[in-house]
Amino acid sequence: ELQPVILSGGSGTRLWPLSREQYPKQLLALVGDETMLQATAGRLAGFTGRLPVAQAPIVVCNEEYRFVTAEQLRSVGRSSRNIVLEPVGRNTAPALALAALAVQESDPVLLVMPADHVIRDLAGFQAAIDAGIPAALEGAIVTFGIVPDRAETGYGYIRFGAERPDGSKAIAAFVEKPDAATAQRYLDSGEYLWNSGLFMVRASTWLKALAALQPAMAKACDAAWQGGARDADFVRVDKEAFVACPSDSIDYAVMEKLAGAVELGIPGCVVPMSAGWSDVGAWDALWDIADKDGSGNVARGDVLFEDSRNTLVYAQDRMVACVGLDDTVVVETPDAVLVARKDKTQNVKQIVAALKLEK
Ligand code: GDD
Ligand code: MG
Repeated sequence: ELQPVILSGGSGTRLWPLSREQYPKQLLALVGDETMLQATAGRLAGFTGRLPVAQAPIVVCNEEYRFVTAEQLRSVGRSSRNIVLEPVGRNTAPALALAALAVQESDPVLLVMPADHVIRDLAGFQAAIDAGIPAALEGAIVTFGIVPDRAETGYGYIRFGAERPDGSKAIAAFVEKPDAATAQRYLDSGEYLWNSGLFMVRASTWLKALAALQPAMAKACDAAWQGGARDADFVRVDKEAFVACPSDSIDYAVMEKLAGAVELGIPGCVVPMSAGWSDVGAWDALWDIADKDGSGNVARGDVLFEDSRNTLVYAQDRMVACVGLDDTVVVETPDAVLVARKDKTQNVKQIVAALKLEK
């Protein structure tokens, strides 16, 4: 069986003022009518590949968001008893360990999906997923690679090696978030793909990789799981044990180390994916992927454009009128308004940091 796992733990500070601590990005409807979490839960709908898809996803999220998360899934018909609650965030490697522990008896292939990505071409997405299944079944950790178009430093870079018998490519090297000069070299070389942040791995393979490469993490997750409890709606873990777990991402904790740990017998591989993928890190990425009018403008809510181009406006509460604006982002909410040059929207996180200091 193919078991979707949704990691829903981020905050998305660069999408302020829409994303807030109380309402992180994955719980917002930034594109279309569904929230990003709901869209993620529906991404395998109609999948007809090498494995049947489990009926409901496993969602791993912070306990603070348990009710909205459950309600958002319920309202799109994807409820499950598998909402695993983290008392604190310990990053993605432990989050995935909890999901793996939840299904260790049936040992399915886990399809790990970040809750906060946009994928526009579902057929392309499902084709890539299907292509990765044979390698995952054989005990590999499968990544999905995107052809890079800029020297982005916020992503992982995968140098692909020889083609494997199952059609995927071996990972020759995995480098998480390189500095700008290194990212530029990787881009120029043509030998690297971006890591999309989607992973496919058998539950047992992931637990084995952690036990070998991050034994303290594996132990802490195991203890947290053993001390946990399941009620009608949620799965809880032992707080003290999970708080004591080292915090690290799948990428740093395992993927970077895999190529150098051949004796482990867990190959890393990459399947290229061309599916209109975006991790919508900031407002400019949202403009990139949105449907635009003839002047390149994007409007959400009550918005008027006059003599404006390539501008994105989200109006939540009031009408917003733009005159003579180019390459601008305006986000209106009841208690805060953002006005930014589109090519500077990465820096919104500085505003959020400053606001936190003020508090
Ligand atoms: N449950 C849970 N708990 N989920 C978490 C936690 C956690 O502690 N931390 C992060 N997540 C979720 C986020 O909500 C997001 O959906 C996903 O895991 C990835 O975490 P990010 O923090 O957004 O990672 P990143 O964007 O810096 O890097 C990853 O994604 C890139 C592509 O967008 C890496 O995999 C990179 O290699 C990759 O290029
Ligand atoms: Mg991310």
